[in-house]
Amino acid sequence: MSKRYTITAALPYTNGPIHIGHLAGVYVPADIYARYQRLIGNDVAFICGSDEHGVPITIKAKKEGVSPQDIVDKYHAIIKKSFVDFGITFDNYSRTSAKIHHDTAQEFFKTLYDNGEFIEEVTEQLYDEEANQFLADRFVIGTCPKCGNEEAYGDQCENCGSSLNATDLINPKSAITGNVPTLKQTKHWFLPLDKHEAFLKEWILKGHKKDWKPNVYGQVKSWIDDGLRPRAVTRDLDWGIPVPVEGADGKVLYVWFDAPIGYISATKEWAERVGKDWIPYWKDENTKLVHFIGKDNIVFHCIIFPSMLKAEGTYILPDNVPANEFLNLEGNKLSTSKNWAVWLPDYLEDFPNQQDILRYALTANAPETKDNDFTWADFQARNNNELVAIFGNFINRVIVLTNKYYDGIIPEHSEFNNVDEETLAAVKAFPAVIASSIERYRFREASQELMNLARLGNKYLADEEPWKVIKEDEVRTKTIMYVALQIASALATLSEPFLPFTSAKLKTILCHSELDSESTWSDVSSKNILIPSGHQIGKAELLFSKIEDKTMQAQLDKLEASKLANEAANITVEPQKDTITFEDFTKLDIRVGTILEAEKLPKTKKLLVLKVDTGIDVRTIVSGIAETFTPEEVVGKKVTVLVNLAPRALRGVESQGMILMTETPEGKLVFVNPDSKTDTTNGLQIS
Ligand code: 2FM
Ligand code: ZN
Repeated sequence: MSKRYTITAALPYTNGPIHIGHLAGVYVPADIYARYQRLIGNDVAFICGSDEHGVPITIKAKKEGVSPQDIVDKYHAIIKKSFVDFGITFDNYSRTSAKIHHDTAQEFFKTLYDNGEFIEEVTEQLYDEEANQFLADRFVIGTCPKCGNEEAYGDQCENCGSSLNATDLINPKSAITGNVPTLKQTKHWFLPLDKHEAFLKEWILKGHKKDWKPNVYGQVKSWIDDGLRPRAVTRDLDWGIPVPVEGADGKVLYVWFDAPIGYISATKEWAERVGKDWIPYWKDENTKLVHFIGKDNIVFHCIIFPSMLKAEGTYILPDNVPANEFLNLEGNKLSTSKNWAVWLPDYLEDFPNQQDILRYALTANAPETKDNDFTWADFQARNNNELVAIFGNFINRVIVLTNKYYDGIIPEHSEFNNVDEETLAAVKAFPAVIASSIERYRFREASQELMNLARLGNKYLADEEPWKVIKEDEVRTKTIMYVALQIASALATLSEPFLPFTSAKLKTILCHSELDSESTWSDVSSKNILIPSGHQIGKAELLFSKIEDKTMQAQLDKLEASKLANEAANITVEPQKDTITFEDFTKLDIRVGTILEAEKLPKTKKLLVLKVDTGIDVRTIVSGIAETFTPEEVVGKKVTVLVNLAPRALRGVESQGMILMTETPEGKLVFVNPDSKTDTTNGLQIS
């Protein structure tokens, strides 16, 4: 019987595009799961949307000198489009600035308020006197009292995952001005998590949640064991959903109060659009609610949101929260601010129509039980050694041979031998094996099982060698090709959740839509014939092609460039000197000269004595460059010379001018050379 699923994927903050960390951690596994549930006939609402409130948005807006609304409009459009282009099949991708969301979140708050579920309290909160505002969440950074991480935020430490109150931070500093905050009184509404401790213990620890992933269960258990405290669910900020009660002017809902309610409002919006009733998706005990998130979101989805849902009283609770760990990139932590990431819009542009390679590489190497590393070398190997060499190769051989031998018409088979029988039986076992992995949220394992089906096909062809058999036994060849075509058809169906673009292409090649009834997931195990004799298929088309080293090198170069740009941005540059007038400037006589001779000034480490042709004369200039250049290196060089500097004696030699030098970002001294292509200098220096 069809089951109802409400599948949610963490609402991404709209302060930047999606990157591979988000995809591997949340969106690819969630999409595989949703596609699979639909394929087996379940009723699915796959829900997501942009998380448009909260401090990260405000910080980004401040940085770019635009309004938070500008930021969310820009990134909502970018994120939404890239999800569609990448084949993520949300039933609804909404946004938390939508009216339906504001109404739903306010109504939710009001219900809890009316039911006396909040503590209303005036407490001292961190305040930035200079910025004239309270400091909550990411507006304040300090040392985590639990793990000592010096960059913990006011609401959470991303290192140990602890959920914090801003006043818990040791040595707090304002992220706006860098100032040490003062304390100022303000009123807020607190959700008494301690009051829900007994329920959480019963539900998660004693309940059936032991089948949750160990990383999720373990974190939740340790928080509950540590004891829970009330948490403020309102903030003194000017960006967010206004708190809908009297006496709350200038206060908004805490972003982590409103964001998960976004799942509900996005479901409502979708239901309205498609003419369904949203209520069973959130209130029917038979609905399975599954939240796909990254590990930094565990506390919000396993403790705070369930406490809110429980306090409201009419909602179901999540059946599972399959949180993933983090993905690193080429050995370093992914970072939006350091631009150390592979951005989805960039990938889609650099690898057009190759969504499935990234989907596969991220799934096969998913950070399911521990943090994992994405490397372009692994991406290339997954493509070349698995998608091309196994999956693509098998399909290509089957389609090419079917066209060559039978003009693309599936041949009649004769009696199956043992190998055929075993192979066909093995194919039938795959749907259950892959399904079992998916249902236990083991997507890596599931993707490898899918590849094993392609391996089975390859081995069958390699062992049966139809290209040899055809020379002496046409009847047997037909049976071999018939069996191979059944495997190809099974692959077309079972690959859909993992490789949706490939699956669609393969179905087109196999003309699946021309079949009386196209196979479903379960048909692959129950039906004897997936694609019948006499059915006409299309021509071969490559499903995957080899990725060359130079393509990977271009991606590595891109990363290297972003690393260098980052380093350059972090170099401390000397502040500008006092302004001079144009008149002052015209007093400088700067010319291009050529170094004719050079020698070290005896008994000095740094000085070279140079003979320089300035165009007006040949003169002696003493330059402090001997630690960087040998005399031989500089002879013949074109240099920029300040010729009207008053002469001065250096170690007994009169210097009649100055060679202009500058520093590279790495601190290397170089000439201000009229022919130089170096453009990343660090300001002129006198030598
Ligand atoms: O961590 C994040 O990117 C959050 N925007 C996730 C929110 S998930 C949900 F609760 F909305
Ligand atoms: Zn910590």
